[in-house]
Amino acid sequence: MASEPMIALRDLRKTYQMGRSQVHALAGVTLDVLEGAFIAVMGPSGSGKSTLLNLVGGLDRPTAGGLRVAGREIGELDENALAAYRQRLCGFVFQSFNLVSTMTALQNVEFPMVFARVPRAERHRRARYLLTAVGLGDRVDHKPTELSGGEQQRVAMARALVNTPRVVLADEPTGNLDSHTGAEIMALLARAQREGNLTVLVVTHDPAVAAYAQQVIQMRDGMVH
Ligand SMILES: Nc1ncnc2c1ncn2[C@@H]1O[C@H](COP(=O)(O)OP(=O)(O)O)[C@@H](O)[C@H]1O
Ligand SMILES: [Mg+2]
Repeated sequence: MASEPMIALRDLRKTYQMGRSQVHALAGVTLDVLEGAFIAVMGPSGSGKSTLLNLVGGLDRPTAGGLRVAGREIGELDENALAAYRQRLCGFVFQSFNLVSTMTALQNVEFPMVFARVPRAERHRRARYLLTAVGLGDRVDHKPTELSGGEQQRVAMARALVNTPRVVLADEPTGNLDSHTGAEIMALLARAQREGNLTVLVVTHDPAVAAYAQQVIQMRDGMVH
């Protein structure tokens, strides 16, 4: 099955009920993404980019259509299997970093491994290794408020990679960063993608960010154009 795409979407739909009206956030997306691909997702605000990433990452469930990732039909997984899927196969990076403010950088990176039941010594070792790899070896005991935006996103990047995902989903990861810092984050993501043969979907408005991708997908009105 080496030829099966890492991500295969078939007429994928997500409809939100808003009072008496319906919002077709995804209105039938069909898309194949090969393993190791680096894809940028662009399009106006409200076009369904975040919805697409959230469905692929198992953060939300489709209304209809096919959603296969790494050979599994994600829409059919029960809650436990979906949680395991999110943990083991997916890494997430968000615009607002989404770090736990009461935890140090090291604890934030260790956090996903707690759920994955990685032994404590191994958690420490791996979190330190990844924080060093993203250039934060001397910041492991800092809390998010004691770090710059770029440093916080580096922590988030380390956290996204800690369970050795196959797929990394980044939703406007440079949206809160200046262009120089954003470029550093993208360089880290591109390196992780190459080294880990990761399949990456990155949502962005910034052509400089999209330039890291091999392919750009344009979304409009819940569809890929
Ligand atoms: N939880 C939700 N409930 C209702 N409508 C939503 C929800 N999430 C997104 N939407 C709507 O779905 C559409 C697509 O949203 P989104 O995927 O966030 O777009 P983008 O990320 O491209 O800006 C928008 O019209 C948005 O208002
Ligand atoms: Mg969005």
